[in-house]
Amino acid sequence: MEQENRIPLIGDEFPDLKINTSHGEINLPEEYKGKWFILFSHPGDFTPVCTTEFYSFQKRYDEFKELNTELIGLSIDQVHSHLKWTEWINKNLGEEIEFPIIADGNGKVAERLGLLHSDGGTATVRAVFIVDPESKIRAILYYPAELGRNMDEIVRMIKGFQKSDEEGVAIPANWPENEIVGDDVIMPPASSEEEIEKRRKQEEKGEIECYDWWLCHRKS
Ligand code: BEZ
Repeated sequence: MEQENRIPLIGDEFPDLKINTSHGEINLPEEYKGKWFILFSHPGDFTPVCTTEFYSFQKRYDEFKELNTELIGLSIDQVHSHLKWTEWINKNLGEEIEFPIIADGNGKVAERLGLLHSDGGTATVRAVFIVDPESKIRAILYYPAELGRNMDEIVRMIKGFQKSDEEGVAIPANWPENEIVGDDVIMPPASSEEEIEKRRKQEEKGEIECYDWWLCHRKS
């Protein structure tokens, strides 16, 4: 199926969208070309779990920016609702929400990105799109309404993708505290006999460590 006709998947280009936000009109992904961006949808403004998430995203916003990563929220609400809600967060919880929130009043962006619940309501699912500087979708996460997102994991994913891209390696479970290889990174699966032989030589020279030719790791 053509990409234009279906919900975007990991590996697709983020679709071209002209969006209305709490910071004015933005063209995605153009606006963030050369940066990572995290687009996250929430069921609605003035809801408790979403409020905790916005607070937590804002608390880590400087850290995201240090990772060349921008944040953008989304719900099927109007700009004035986003502004009233973020004003409430600032006044009552002491955090000024600095990143834009998409005001998807007619639900068109949510529909294009596959963020609508199956029940036909207007609340968007909790989704997270992680998009790289070339506008490619690198990860899509979905959470249910009753469970807020974990910022540590989202930060870890950005760091993991950046490490993977810089060093051509893969990232183990719970990195950088993996139970088997510690903070080492994983060599991607060898795809040829030559590659396997190269791995053996690297292991002999102490450049990498292997449990077997297909499970090799090294210091980052
Ligand atoms: C919340 O953000 O608290 C929430 C939103 C929709 C359903 C349930 C909880």
